[in-house]
Amino acid sequence: NWTMEKFVDTEIERIRAVVGPTGQVIGAVSGGVDSTVAAKLMHAAIGDRFHAILVDNGVMRLNECQIVHETLTKGLGINLAVVDASEEFLSKLKGVIDPEKKRMIIGNTFIEVFQREAERVMRESGGAVDFLLQGTLYPDVIESISFKGPSATIKTHHNVGGLLKNMKLKLIEPLRELFKDEVRILGTNLGIPEDLVWRHPFPGPGIAIRILGEVTPEQVAIARKADHIFIEEIKAAGLYRQISQAFAALLPVRAVGVMGDKRVHDQIIALRAVETTDYMTADWFDFDGKFLRKVAGRIVNEVEGVCRVVYDVTQKPPGTIEFQ
Ligand code: XMP
Repeated sequence: NWTMEKFVDTEIERIRAVVGPTGQVIGAVSGGVDSTVAAKLMHAAIGDRFHAILVDNGVMRLNECQIVHETLTKGLGINLAVVDASEEFLSKLKGVIDPEKKRMIIGNTFIEVFQREAERVMRESGGAVDFLLQGTLYPDVIESISFKGPSATIKTHHNVGGLLKNMKLKLIEPLRELFKDEVRILGTNLGIPEDLVWRHPFPGPGIAIRILGEVTPEQVAIARKADHIFIEEIKAAGLYRQISQAFAALLPVRAVGVMGDKRVHDQIIALRAVETTDYMTADWFDFDGKFLRKVAGRIVNEVEGVCRVVYDVTQKPPGTIEFQ
């Protein structure tokens, strides 16, 4: 694809010209395709003068932080610092059930942690960091995707506003003219693993908005395990790419079940999988019964605390993709 190759060369030159021969750049990565492609492009342009920061907010998927860490450092050679702030996030989420409050807390805590980390990089580099990298795409620029509340990633400009002002950073957005499919081609050209290039979108507030009710470490563990089984089976069945987004949600109610010879009163997992092109409207994915039976069987057997599994067959609209 000659246009994409040309884009890479032009963009690398442009980044070098903008950043200068000694300038340094910081940026958050999440493991999603946009931030990873932006980071890899930046690394190709200025090497270790780009500092990537991955904040573990305690509500990422099972083992995701380690996987992203390995892929970005060992696989892609990116200069990455991982900050484990999970306790900080989870303690602030204690007792919170309102989804907008969860989003707000996660968004604000993210900015605090990121700023702290950016200040550390700044000190260690002798104040040479001038730029903040953002993996903003064209649709983000025109804001065609409407979020239900303030995005917890630093995708939206009003969230990074404080950072830019407090730290006197300038914004650098190498993907701002691209659409998602172009970013995927670009990512593939830059040697980013297929798995990451085709990853389903994952909301900034993570599984905190997929745990209906209070987000406790125990609930996080349950939601993570169930989600992991669902995604693992989707991949094993070769369905991952046909589905636009899939996840498990944990419902805050209990149902009766019989496990072995005991009567239990455990929680319910709701599975959601949708097909969509624009995320504004979506249809539920029509799994065959055999597949759902297998996933449900595995979840009730392998995830302690869950005795029932349901599948969401609501279209968007009126149902949103997320449960909160
Ligand atoms: P809904 O649930 O509104 O979701 O149909 C549409 C798309 O947006 C994602 N989403 C979010 N992403 N922060 C994000 O970064 C959020 O607060 C948020 N809420 C929803 C959702 O995963 C889906 O892809």
